[in-house]
Parts: sequence; structure tokens; C-alpha cells
Amino acid sequence: MTEKTCVITGTSSGIGRALALRLLNAGWSVVGISRRGGDISHDGYRHVRLDLADLEAVEEYFTRNFDAGALPTDCRRLGLVNNAACVQPVAPPGKPPMAELLGAFKLNTVAPIWLMGHFARSFANLSLRIVNLSSGAAHKPYAGWTVYCASKAALSMASRVLGQEIVENPAALPTAGASPSAGASPSAGDIAVLDYQPGVVDTPMQAGLRAVSREDFPHLERFLGLHRNGGLIRPEDTIGEIVEFLEGPARQPYTEKRFGD
Ligand SMILES: NC(=O)c1ccc[n+]([C@@H]2O[C@H](COP(=O)([O-])OP(=O)(O)OC[C@H]3O[C@@H](n4cnc5c(N)ncnc54)[C@H](OP(=O)(O)O)[C@@H]3O)[C@@H](O)[C@H]2O)c1
Repeated sequence: MTEKTCVITGTSSGIGRALALRLLNAGWSVVGISRRGGDISHDGYRHVRLDLADLEAVEEYFTRNFDAGALPTDCRRLGLVNNAACVQPVAPPGKPPMAELLGAFKLNTVAPIWLMGHFARSFANLSLRIVNLSSGAAHKPYAGWTVYCASKAALSMASRVLGQEIVENPAALPTAGASPSAGASPSAGDIAVLDYQPGVVDTPMQAGLRAVSREDFPHLERFLGLHRNGGLIRPEDTIGEIVEFLEGPARQPYTEKRFGD
């Protein structure tokens, strides 16, 4: 571990994997979380196999194994990137069983919200950056994406609320106690949250989306076309602003950004 440590969910593929590699090359230590092990091999990397939809397991792992005592004494900057998510079930409402809806909300919404709070409350005196991977689907309705749109919209609102907590109730968040918005020195410990829309990225999530039926997803053609015509963004090309945010000062408690804007 080093001065800069980042916990990234979903490092076995796609955006999370690309971000982990970029941070490792920039001297961060990274704790990656996913169900599969993945292929990252680096001295600064530690992988934790965890199903983030298993909320009891998540709570147990982080409360027992990942508090301030788990970080090196010289750690000054801590990042949390809530990246793991699923786009499934892709189907009209009423078609997928209720258990599937619940599983997606646990992964896309409940675990990231709980992790944000756990990090903001557990790491006083650290400079904390939280990034939540959002989507255009959080803001625009797409037929077939009831669960994805709704779960991402809820996470986006939770990011905004955390920004508001930092401003209105910093005493409830030990990490925010010394944030610039609370009127203290920015170097003493600060917190900021970024809601980031990465664009349409060439990852296994996109490949899975191309395999759904037209009957369930009227927008299928658009995504097939983007893939066919080379219109997908490479994972390593969409992560620059995330890295900048993780490494930069807490200019404001809450920031919303979209790739390319
Ligand atoms: N790709 C896009 O076009 C796009 C567009 C907008 C937003 N996003 C967002 O960007 C983020 C990353 O997406 P991606 O395209 O890179 O997806 P991806 O390639 O499918 O990767 C998803 C990652 O999440 C992990 N994951 C999935 N379910 C998990 C679970 N139950 N427990 C633990 N880890 C789990 C996966 O690992 P395991 O399977 O090994 O568990 C994998 O490492 C997501 O939040 C997505 O909503 C993507």
C-alpha cells in the first residue's frame, strides 16, 4: 500500500479493470472487488472476491476488514469507485421475476450507497474521493431498461445527496469534518463525490446488451450499429476524468460529468 489507495468495484473487466491498471501505473495501490479474480498482476494490487449483491457479505467484509486500521499509516488519499453494476434484466416490467429486480438494485444501488456512507464515516483525516459510475440511463428513460434506468437514477440522486450532506451536515461525516465546505483547511482531510457518465464503452456489458432480444429491447439496433461502425469508446479512453478527480483537490463537494463534455 502507498500514500494513495483506491478501492474499485468491478475490476475483472471493462472500465474498472482499465481504471485499476491506470492507477497502478500512476503509483496508487488498488483493492479490486469482483466475483471473478481477473487478470491484474501488480505488486500494488490486491483482489477481493466478493458478490456485491450479497449485502451481508459486503457489510461484513468492510466493517470487519476494511476500516482505518486496514490502511497504511502513510495513506493520505483514499478513493472509492463504485463501478460494478449490471444492465440485466433487460425486459419490459413484469417479465423478470422479482428476485432478479432485487438483485440488480442491490448491486447497482444499495451496495454503492452503503459503501459511500461507510467510507465517509470511517476514514476521518483522510482525503476521500468517491466516484459513482452513472449512465445516460439515469436521466433518460429507455424501454426495456426499467431496472437499469431506475437503479442508476437512484444512485445518481444518492451522489447528489452525499454532496448535500457534506455541505449541510458535515458533523455527521467524520471525513467531511475538515472539508473546504466546512470552512477548514483543505489539506487536513476532505471529501468530494463525482457522478460520472462514461459514454457507450466497449466492454462485456455492451456485448451482453447486444445479445438481448429485439422484443425485450427496442433500442437494440442502436447498440448493434455503434458496435458495427466502430462507435464504441475504449475503456482506457473514458477514465481520464475519473483519474483527474481521484488525484485532484476537492473543488466542490459534488460534481457531475459526462465523457466528452
Ligand atoms: N459499458 C458502457 O457502455 C457503460 C455505459 C454507461 C455506464 N456504464 C457503467 O460503467 C460501469 C462499468 O461497466 P462496464 O461496461 O465496464 O461493465 P463490465 O465490463 O460488465 O464489468 C462489470 C464489472 O462489475 C463486476 N460485477 C458485476 N456483478 C458483480 C457482483 N454481483 N459482485 C461483484 N462484482 C460484480 C464484474 O465482475 P464479476 O463478473 O467478476 O463479478 C465486472 O468486473 C457500470 O456501472 C456501468 O453501469 C457502462
